[in-house]
Amino acid sequence: EEIEKGGYDHFMLKEIYEQPRAIKDTYRGRLLADQGIIRMAGIDQNLEKFLNANRIIIVACGTSWHAGLVAEYIFEDLARIPVEVEYASEFRYRNPVITENDILIAISQSGETADTLAAIKMAKERGAFVFGVCNVVGSSIARETDAGAYTHAGPEIGVASTKAFTTQITVLTLIALKLAKEKGTIEESKYHEYLVELEGIPAKVERTLKTNPLIEEIAEVYKDSSNCLYLGRGYNFPVALEGALKLKEISYIHAEGYPAAEMKHGPIALIDEEMPVVVIATRKGHYEKVVSNVQEIKSRSGKIIAVVTEGDQQVTDLADHVVEVPETSETLTPLLTTIPLQLLSYHIALMRGCNVDQPRNLAKSVTVE
Ligand code: G6P
Repeated sequence: EEIEKGGYDHFMLKEIYEQPRAIKDTYRGRLLADQGIIRMAGIDQNLEKFLNANRIIIVACGTSWHAGLVAEYIFEDLARIPVEVEYASEFRYRNPVITENDILIAISQSGETADTLAAIKMAKERGAFVFGVCNVVGSSIARETDAGAYTHAGPEIGVASTKAFTTQITVLTLIALKLAKEKGTIEESKYHEYLVELEGIPAKVERTLKTNPLIEEIAEVYKDSSNCLYLGRGYNFPVALEGALKLKEISYIHAEGYPAAEMKHGPIALIDEEMPVVVIATRKGHYEKVVSNVQEIKSRSGKIIAVVTEGDQQVTDLADHVVEVPETSETLTPLLTTIPLQLLSYHIALMRGCNVDQPRNLAKSVTVE
């Protein structure tokens, strides 16, 4: 096992650090930025179906469901296809309306999650075309779907999912960009910018990982907290959910993710000097709105840990701690902003003496409903 950990103390940390490579492996051979081409067999062979789809229904569980939420923003924004994101366990039991013009995308790292598999079977029976985004080759979900695209994250051992999440977003971004191009819903120049930007993401993830020592210091300050709030807007709302999930999974601190603007409808009541609030406040995407959310937290004495774009001023002036990520297009920010949140939960869990790779009561893949 020590050899498998490749010099890291835990699989989770190894897998966090593998992300630049995993993202690159996931787009390798698919993203041909210099030629302006995205090549994905599962999409190319079913292009008509995708172009004629009335809507896309995404089903998943856990972290994969969060990747689905990010995908909802990307698909609607770039390819102008209506998207619904469903917990597989709810979807399968609620007699959903599914038609032959619907495409179901199932996202699953393991490819074995029982509820996701059951949702696929039901959608197929009702005539939908089912597309899988899985990490494990030959898994049940990979076999059960009509077509698919693998993430190439490599084996993920840590129960808390990390590189599976960022590679899922990578695959889904490629699909959205390809469909946007085919549908003509994106300007040619924008499309090319995205391809180049996506190709450069692994290097920016690498740079983001350099914040690790700073995050360790922040973890030291908040390791004894009993609650934590995560806020984000737009593309970074699902990242807030994912950050909160990571913290509760491995450190057993109660954490909640919320859309920043929704804070005033509930969580704001919880804010006092004991409450750390992690705010994702990158420069693109509702920045000014997030700044005013940060002001609201500050005026209630909440402790602010902000994830900002390099060179940020406004939020930096207000926050107690600031972690910078490189600038990128708004669509791609989740691939960067997720990284510090993974590291934060890792360090806090470690400092609390928790079993980072195998947290209590959780399983890597949930094959029973
Ligand atoms: C379990 C794991 C999570 C994972 C979820 C969905 O809860 O602990 O990390 O996100 O299952 O798993 P899947 O393999 O379908 O992505």
